[in-house]
Amino acid sequence: MTTTSTSALEEIQAREARHVLQTYRRNPVTFVRGQGVRLYDAEGREYFDLLSGIGVASLGHAHPGLARAIADQAQQLLHTSNLFFHPLQGQVAEKLSSLSGLPRAFFCNSGAEAVEACLKFARRYWYTRQEPRAEFIALEESFHGRTLGALSVTSDEHYRAPFEPLLPSVRFVPANDPTAIKAAVSTQTAAIIAEPVQGEGGVRPLTPAFAAAINEACAASGALFIADEVQSGLGRTGSPFYYSELGLKPHLMSLGKALGGGVPIGAALISDEVAKTISYGDHGSTYGGNLLACRAALWFLGELTDGGVLENVRRVGRIFDERLHALQAKHAFIKDVRGVGLIWGLELSRDAAPVVQAGLANGVIVNRTAETVVRLLPPLNITQDEASEALGRLDAALAAAGAAA
Ligand SMILES: Cc1ncc(COP(=O)(O)O)c(C=O)c1O
Repeated sequence: MTTTSTSALEEIQAREARHVLQTYRRNPVTFVRGQGVRLYDAEGREYFDLLSGIGVASLGHAHPGLARAIADQAQQLLHTSNLFFHPLQGQVAEKLSSLSGLPRAFFCNSGAEAVEACLKFARRYWYTRQEPRAEFIALEESFHGRTLGALSVTSDEHYRAPFEPLLPSVRFVPANDPTAIKAAVSTQTAAIIAEPVQGEGGVRPLTPAFAAAINEACAASGALFIADEVQSGLGRTGSPFYYSELGLKPHLMSLGKALGGGVPIGAALISDEVAKTISYGDHGSTYGGNLLACRAALWFLGELTDGGVLENVRRVGRIFDERLHALQAKHAFIKDVRGVGLIWGLELSRDAAPVVQAGLANGVIVNRTAETVVRLLPPLNITQDEASEALGRLDAALAAAGAAA
């Protein structure tokens, strides 16, 4: 780092320290430019981005088609509110419906808002049926967001404790324990909520046997099932949504992250059975599904289904699978490798933070989740060659972190 750039970073840090609420412990890097899977910092150093802004920059950085679509939309019309029609919201909803099998969409701006909407719609369903049910069943190691409703179904005590009391009547059961979920669900249960692949909890896919138990519990009790596909959905696993790989039958689904390729947009998808219990005014969002967000989402969805992105995830996913298992054989402190498509977690026998730091030093971006897990969420259009080079850098980072321990 040169003296000038160090002082530029220091100046940025000092200004944030004075005026930005200190809720994020940031890495000391300032990115100024991106190109595909590569990011560049203020000193012009190149990094392979195997995190894509936590699964958001789904088509990589500065994607020319997405950039053109956004610029074009900005020159026409960005926002008019949900008081009026515009041509794009229905088109995004139609595409999401054909991909998911859930016929209706409600648009919002983030994953947490999508979860929040699903929880409200589940309550509304039971209210309309004049059989109010308050209870939600969620899973241990879950993460659904930071708003009060979403936090209420998030298991981590560290996130919850300062904000209690949260929603009453939330029960947590261990993931992948069919007996526990069947025992927990009753005719008091409004809905079960689960991530088909638990992301923040350490990249833990649900098992088909557990999925079958969720289906059985819902059928026996009438409880709704909410699939939180904010992280696992929209091509991340090589399928449009991972629920279908598991045989789950969601009534509601939350989406976010990848959908706008970096432009904030979230969506709750809703079955007809639930949708018909919801009335005008029950929920709303000023920004939700505006022209800019929908234009970006349409571009992303087009690339996903017609631009070869899904096939790419499956193809390059196999390289990640092979190479990450080879890294496990080489580095003894990798205890487990979990994932599918382009969502992967390396469970270490120690804190994962030094690997993240060594990654930055070696020009590759990964992150730590659940303390001991190195998580990888690369752009969905990463090529085989890029994957190979990036994983070479990760190998070097693992070696450096291993040697330093
Ligand atoms: C499964 C899941 N649900 C919800 C959220 C919350 O999304 P957001 O941070 O966009 O509010 C996340 C974020 O990581 C997530 O992984």
